[in-house]
Amino acid sequence: MASLLRFAATPDDYRQLAKRRLPRFLFDYIDGGAGDELTLTANQRDFNQWRLRQRVLCDVSQRDTRCQLFGETLSLPVVLAPLGMAGLYARRGEVQAARAAKAVGVPFCLSSVGICGYTEVSQNSEKPCWFQLYMLRDRGLVSELLERVWAQGCRTLLFTIDLPVAGARHRDQRNGLLDQGLAGKFSKAWQLLQCPQWLYSVGLRGKPHHFANLHQHSGVPSDIHRFKQWLDEQFDPSVTWSDIAWLRQQWPGTLILKGLLDQQDVAPACDSGADALVISNHGGRQLDGAASSISQLPLISQAIDGRMPLLIDGGVRSGSDILKACALGATAILAGRPWAWALAAGGQAGVEQWLRRWQNELSLSMALCGIRELSQARDTLMPA
Ligand SMILES: Cc1cc2nc3c(=O)[nH]c(=O)nc-3n(C[C@H](O)[C@H](O)[C@H](O)COP(=O)(O)O)c2cc1C
Repeated sequence: MASLLRFAATPDDYRQLAKRRLPRFLFDYIDGGAGDELTLTANQRDFNQWRLRQRVLCDVSQRDTRCQLFGETLSLPVVLAPLGMAGLYARRGEVQAARAAKAVGVPFCLSSVGICGYTEVSQNSEKPCWFQLYMLRDRGLVSELLERVWAQGCRTLLFTIDLPVAGARHRDQRNGLLDQGLAGKFSKAWQLLQCPQWLYSVGLRGKPHHFANLHQHSGVPSDIHRFKQWLDEQFDPSVTWSDIAWLRQQWPGTLILKGLLDQQDVAPACDSGADALVISNHGGRQLDGAASSISQLPLISQAIDGRMPLLIDGGVRSGSDILKACALGATAILAGRPWAWALAAGGQAGVEQWLRRWQNELSLSMALCGIRELSQARDTLMPA
């Protein structure tokens, strides 16, 4: 597998390697979306509604893929999006991915439902990473978590606002992911037996497999199935913008809201005290039939009018997609599944390789569009 990794060129190549390595319920948990996966498909497809302008004779011998975000220089405008349970994609997966992100020079965002906890990730990657959180019914727990990660050096909170309730993911249902009955257990055991390498490397040697950020709090179950039930009950559908005002008071660092998709939500988001926004539909895992992220970028960017950095995720699969997003007004993109697949395929080395491939692709696209830095990206696009 390690030798095949060298030949992986695109996220889909890493995806194929990941498929061979992971038990099916886990591969599908990563790969799948909500409902009929219409939004999942549209996220990627709609990047094709834009064409890059091929320009010539512009002296592109020096090119710079770097960007500035919250006072930090990123080697390319990419952030590793928060992904739940990444410690099951590879052994201590969040640590490996955070190390890769640090080596390449981009931020890593740890999911609150990661397997590895904030301390383990930041200590082992020697850099405080970003932290993602949902609004939980137990506001005391929210405050406690914020205080804890702040004390450990976290200064950037990514707050997810598109999950008042969990979306319906049919693949998980079919695979018996959360079925604790005999049939569900049998189905998962059968899938696990097809993956002896994963069983040994991650299932056995990658323990413990609890949700380290949350499990030390009393009342939070450590068993993965009971935890999911607890978490579903903790998602708070009554959240409004006034809760974001409360959150703003709790968090002195950079606050980013992730999950905005509609132009009408821009005004309250700008008034909420947030420092940045992420256009997102949770990678097509929440409202199936919602617009693709990239289709909303021009309108939302216009509505924000430069008041704060705007980020986007969903369906970004190449360096030229990154350039298109920057051309339409994004400061940076978040990538989700691409790092999950690269991690499952090759651990830290896989994630590093994928990031460097994208940096190279971005640089090539810039050269062929006749620009030298990302501030010129707006001139590179035309409608298809
Ligand atoms: C397997 C998986 C787990 C995810 N877990 C989280 C999570 O814990 N918190 C969160 O805010 N978003 C989560 N997301 C959404 C991602 O952060 C991101 O919005 C999405 O993956 C972007 O789309 P892409 O996968 O097409 O890049 C998850 C997505 C996937 C695929």
